[in-house]
Amino acid sequence: MKAIVVTDQAAGTAGMTLVERPEPQAAINDVVVQVHASGFVGTELGWPSTWTDRLGRDRTPSIPGHELAGVVTALGYGTTGLSVGQRVFGLTDWYRDGTLAEYAAVEARNLAPLPGDVDFTVGASLPISGLTAWQGLVVHGRVQPGQRVIAHGAAGAVGSMVTQLAREFGAYVIGTGRAADRQAALDFGANEFVDLDNEALEDVGPVDLVFDLIGGAIGKRSAALVRAGGTLVSIVGPSEARPADGLAVDFVVESDRAQLSEIVQRVRDGRLRTNIGTVATLDDAVAAFNPTQRRTGKTIIRARS
Ligand SMILES: NC(=O)c1ccc[n+]([C@@H]2O[C@H](COP(=O)([O-])OP(=O)(O)OC[C@H]3O[C@@H](n4cnc5c(N)ncnc54)[C@H](OP(=O)(O)O)[C@@H]3O)[C@@H](O)[C@H]2O)c1
Repeated sequence: MKAIVVTDQAAGTAGMTLVERPEPQAAINDVVVQVHASGFVGTELGWPSTWTDRLGRDRTPSIPGHELAGVVTALGYGTTGLSVGQRVFGLTDWYRDGTLAEYAAVEARNLAPLPGDVDFTVGASLPISGLTAWQGLVVHGRVQPGQRVIAHGAAGAVGSMVTQLAREFGAYVIGTGRAADRQAALDFGANEFVDLDNEALEDVGPVDLVFDLIGGAIGKRSAALVRAGGTLVSIVGPSEARPADGLAVDFVVESDRAQLSEIVQRVRDGRLRTNIGTVATLDDAVAAFNPTQRRTGKTIIRARS
């Protein structure tokens, strides 16, 4: 099968190459998915799991990409809940070969059915951004109607989901990002927008929840805005500062079939809009991940047309 592999961490996305690899086999409780579309997070090549297995041993050449939409072609020993020929989407194990390939082996529990009226490209754009936003807001942030929420990077892949879901859950959303992102963030539903390069974040006043995907100084300054009883949720590691009288949580997204179904249902009924920037083929994937201009939204790779 065709697959994108990485072997050299220092080379970054420029070191990605398109090669032939053996098709994966389904282990216990796995399915093999014929990948139609695949997503990739820009920071993946910095994650230890891209380079080593769970014991820290080198696992290169490794196939990046950890979200997909496709069709089940084989079941492993003992696999239940999914069937051959079923359309699925979901999140794959960080430590296994990923989804920038024609086939991927995935534990069945990490996948959910993809309804027939949802395009594979859309399906592949949802798992990481959608689940991360859902878990940060609902599970870790316990967002409530009427709360004031800062959604950092509100025009980005995760931030656009955070903005839309927080609005749906009844929050007042302060989106942030670059000057060029203002309109996109407002279009995703942000009530107001802070251009972090030119405006003072502190001017927004106290908030109940911060969803941080930037970290560093922005995370630190955000912690100071969390009012008593509020929460700072970070998806970029532990924050450098904690809210004085609130919670600080950092987490890595996990797959969850019920949450995937909640997310895709919202896309179907128009409550949630996915944020796809570029769609490219597997043959053009390396160029797509090395853009010459700033791009917004997710890059989705189509392994089949
Ligand atoms: N823990 C988890 O489970 C988890 C899950 C998903 C993602 N993540 C992490 O979350 C981060 C965001 O992921 P994503 O897929 O949403 O990325 P993305 O699509 O690139 O969105 C990030 C947005 O934030 C903006 N931004 C970043 N730094 C900024 C700054 N200093 N000032 C103003 N705007 C800034 C970016 O603008 P520019 O492009 O101009 O910088 C972009 O619009 C990544 O670090 C990723 O690894 C973690």
